[in-house]
Amino acid sequence: MTENADDRAQDARLAVRYERWDDMSDEYRAAAAKVASFQALAELVGVLPFNEWMDRVPDYTRKQMLVAKIQDEVGHGHVTARVAEDLGVTREEILEDFAAGRTKLLNIFHYGFDSWEEIGPAALLMNSAALVQFQSLDKGTYLPYARALKKIGKEEAFHYNHALDLTHQILSEGEAEQRAIVQTAFDTWFPRLLAYFGPPDSDRYHENVGYQFGLKVDSNDELRQRWIAKIVRVFRELGVHVSDDIARCDEETGEWTYCEVDWVASKKLITEGGPKYQEWVDTVRGSLARNQRYRKAALALAV
Ligand SMILES: [Fe+2]
Ligand SMILES: [Fe+2]
Repeated sequence: MTENADDRAQDARLAVRYERWDDMSDEYRAAAAKVASFQALAELVGVLPFNEWMDRVPDYTRKQMLVAKIQDEVGHGHVTARVAEDLGVTREEILEDFAAGRTKLLNIFHYGFDSWEEIGPAALLMNSAALVQFQSLDKGTYLPYARALKKIGKEEAFHYNHALDLTHQILSEGEAEQRAIVQTAFDTWFPRLLAYFGPPDSDRYHENVGYQFGLKVDSNDELRQRWIAKIVRVFRELGVHVSDDIARCDEETGEWTYCEVDWVASKKLITEGGPKYQEWVDTVRGSLARNQRYRKAALALAV
């Protein structure tokens, strides 16, 4: 396809925007529900790696910030679950499907954190990637979802700044050993976040329904490039070493080349589960069982 033909296809994809159930095709509705419920699950389960650090935060102000972040993330889960609910997928289905192993979880949430010093840089990578992703998704064709993401994006910016400040504090006030953990965390989490954006466009990505229907405005590779351009500079300014093997910018084209993502391993992680996957499944299962009677009562009252 020439560049112009590409632009025209892009325009057609984004030409119509949807608000009401009746306006959409069944196919579109299913795609929008899938995107919203995937995100709702990521928000709700994505909070668990942070939640388990709640009792181990070394400082009271940081603890308040972590609590605020956790509350925000659960709120994001509810907001996006409401979007999915309007499209015919209930929040019970979202959680029960996960508890039963029927849905996949975003790669980055298959891991936990081994130390407090790891959380800052890991969260900085995660939050910056989420912001790039949301700033694209909030221009998508399903307007209730786009509006929800605009609100979520503002809170994500707070999480980003918290992670930036925490990383900066460790690097400027920490011991050599703590600074070394930040460097290792960057080297470990950067490739995971490259994979977070999904398979390369060359991998028939354009056949993805979310992209075809304009729910996702930009392609995976476009978002990956945008994120690298933003975040590598931030880490370098913080004093983290980013080798050319990890990410390098071509001065002439402005394109970034980056370390190869092991897509086979990434797919295996998502299908078979990473180090923390089973623990999160058990947590959600336990929560569903524990709260069943209250949910039933609330649903009965709502009728
Ligand atoms: Fe969030
Ligand atoms: Fe967040």
